[in-house]
Amino acid sequence: MLDQPVLHRYQPTDREEVFDFIRAMFPADVSARIIAQWGWKYDANPFNPPDGPIIHLVRVGSKLVSQIATFRVPLWAAGTKCMAENRGDQVVHPDYRRQKLWQRVNLKQSVETPIALGWSGDISTRAAMVGGWVPGPVSKLWRVLDPGPFIERFTHSRLLGSLGAGAGAASWGAGAPLRRRRDRQVGARIRLDSFDESVDALWERARRADKAMLVRDHRYLNWRYCQRPDARYSLFGIKRNSELAGFLVARATTRDGIKWGYLVDFLTAEDSTDVLSALLDDALDEFRRLGVAAVSCFATDPASRRTLLRRGFFPFPQRDPSHFVRRIHRGRPDLQKFATLGEWYVTMGDGDYEMTF
Ligand SMILES: CC(C)(COP(=O)(O)OP(=O)(O)OC[C@H]1O[C@@H](n2cnc3c(N)ncnc32)[C@H](O)[C@@H]1OP(=O)(O)O)[C@@H](O)C(=O)NCCC(=O)NCCS
Repeated sequence: MLDQPVLHRYQPTDREEVFDFIRAMFPADVSARIIAQWGWKYDANPFNPPDGPIIHLVRVGSKLVSQIATFRVPLWAAGTKCMAENRGDQVVHPDYRRQKLWQRVNLKQSVETPIALGWSGDISTRAAMVGGWVPGPVSKLWRVLDPGPFIERFTHSRLLGSLGAGAGAASWGAGAPLRRRRDRQVGARIRLDSFDESVDALWERARRADKAMLVRDHRYLNWRYCQRPDARYSLFGIKRNSELAGFLVARATTRDGIKWGYLVDFLTAEDSTDVLSALLDDALDEFRRLGVAAVSCFATDPASRRTLLRRGFFPFPQRDPSHFVRRIHRGRPDLQKFATLGEWYVTMGDGDYEMTF
């Protein structure tokens, strides 16, 4: 029986063994990121159940051959408040792949929340489907601020690059008078260092009554966007009549020599398109100051999508889009409708998608 895989619940004493396994399984930059986030995301996650982080290990004899790390997030599902498990960093040792290891050790039974969610790519989506998850492709919305770096990259022409950059700058200036008029009505633009109770009041007003969405209260948002050890976010807000009318979380990174901007998360009331527009303007202004070439986001919420499309974002079909995967507990017929992606308010900040870069 020594070669039978056995499921173990991770204990803090397993940490160094798990880190060695992660280093052996992933490229150096990926393993460094997973390890840097480990304490924040798993060991000291404020949403952990009383019995600690939800990480499972599979050993064959004394050899660690797989790990699947999960963290919990607070969820609102059309009035039902519960915790959801986000299926996070998972890996199977190459010698044990295509053997349905997780089914053999019956991991499913250890998932305790009514809803589990996660993000997956091509292969992991197929593996997830075998495990009973429902996939849903989510395509990015894009806006190019400075086409120069792309033109330069694809044509190696500095002349074309500078022409493209000029076009981007011209279209930015043209909207300024309109924006100033709109600004006077929308409210005061503020920058936040962290979230306080005013975001809880916004959450109560702005959550989508009949949808599933992560609870955007100050406890969750501070953990997610103010305590992550390996990334810094810009937090934009609009204050109107002494209330927070909306917030937007943005982040810029440099990859392959190009500066990218991400509208990671946002929330305004469904009928507050002016507030979301103003938040977008502020974030885009900051991205331009930072020299960001293109901005992307996810938005499944129809009201937010309409505003983004009006503000110049466009859907760009991806050959291999990421999937937002869900699994609804069989014993919860009241929640089965959330197997459908259209029933979710999803942004790039949800789950661990944006934690992977
Ligand atoms: C993704 C991963 C966890 C899958 O683990 P696994 O134990 O091999 O998956 P399973 O044996 O349960 O496979 C289930 C199904 O997934 C699909 N699948 C798994 N690996 C596949 C591959 N390399 N190519 C195509 N389909 C694949 C198949 O449909 C498979 O069923 P089948 O074998 O009957 O055709 C594993 O490949 C891995 O560790 N990859 C590297 C790390 C990673 O990508 N992690 C996910 C994101 S954090």
